[in-house]
Amino acid sequence: MVSDQPLVLGIETSCDETGVGIVRGHELLVDAVESSVEEHARFGGVVPEVASRAHLEAMAPTIERACTQAGVRLDDADAIAVTSGPGLAGALLVGVASAKALALALGRPLYGVNHLAAHVAVDQLEHGPLPEPTLALLVSGGHSSLLLVPDVTSDVRPLGSTIDDAAGEAFDKVARLLGLPFPGGPHVDRMAKEGDPGAIPFPRGLSRPSDLAKHRYDFSFSGLKTAVARWVEQRQADGEQVPVADVAASFQEAVVDVLTRKAVAACRAEGVDTMLIGGGVAANSRLRAMAQTRCDDAGITLRVPRPGLCTDNGAMVAALGAQMVRRGRTPSALDLPADSSMPVTTVLA
Ligand code: KG4
Ligand code: ZN
Repeated sequence: MVSDQPLVLGIETSCDETGVGIVRGHELLVDAVESSVEEHARFGGVVPEVASRAHLEAMAPTIERACTQAGVRLDDADAIAVTSGPGLAGALLVGVASAKALALALGRPLYGVNHLAAHVAVDQLEHGPLPEPTLALLVSGGHSSLLLVPDVTSDVRPLGSTIDDAAGEAFDKVARLLGLPFPGGPHVDRMAKEGDPGAIPFPRGLSRPSDLAKHRYDFSFSGLKTAVARWVEQRQADGEQVPVADVAASFQEAVVDVLTRKAVAACRAEGVDTMLIGGGVAANSRLRAMAQTRCDDAGITLRVPRPGLCTDNGAMVAALGAQMVRRGRTPSALDLPADSSMPVTTVLA
């Protein structure tokens, strides 16, 4: 019998966070996350082998901690959900193998879900059922996409994505350039509060009419990153102090301007009145503020999960798994692959 409030354990290991979340229907019971971000800091980016090893070490203790904190036994789970892709191949493998072992040992169905769809589904834990369709803007260190989501369990349509760097990657690279620690997004956000967003007119990628014809909903941040680097180098060559706060604010403004402009344009063109923002960059204070203003002006309802649910976590995987159960989707086979380049149109493997 399919429960209307299934208890689902979700596992996420696509990047550097080992996430184990447990939900009952739309209710979040626990979100246990173990991050290896500090082990990558000195390299200025995530090192795949280091991430895989850290997942391996963190997996069993994190599952145990999640069950203890939620006050449930593994055996209580109605289903196991896991991120099947996209992500780092070795990192994904640890999660997928663990989830298979649990599903097999417990005799429960296994749902191998798409990481991006899970970023969308997580919002229901905080704001209730998702209007259908919803427009999702997903921005993190690994992805930047605009998605039309008629049904997060079966129908996710890509409208656009970055053609080079992800938005978070651009934040991290510019932070490094400015001498700020990794991951750089929160530091740029903080510095930008002291700076003038109009100080330097950095380029808005893929925003000229000629670009829009081909890349209406795509993003590009690599030209912006280069423009910031050239601007800083010129200052240094002239023997002048780099105004870090102004550079941070002007760079951030350029990123946030393009993200929100294209997301609102997509809502209008598709006739969608709900916009959701997810991924680590959704924690950015300027992105939240500008998105709110532009959505208000356009009569669009904005949904942004709290920062802890925007970054990678197991609760998002459990939330999507629970919805798969409720909608009666067919579980994945036990030979489910870890698919590093899983297309967003494949919501369930
Ligand atoms: O979703 P996430 O935890 O991991 C993946 O990349 O999948 O996102 C991490 C990214 C990093 O690039 C980080 O710099 C960025 O999110 N980030 C931010 C902020 N907080 C985190 N970027 C801008 N402003 C922030 N406040
Ligand atoms: Zn993510």
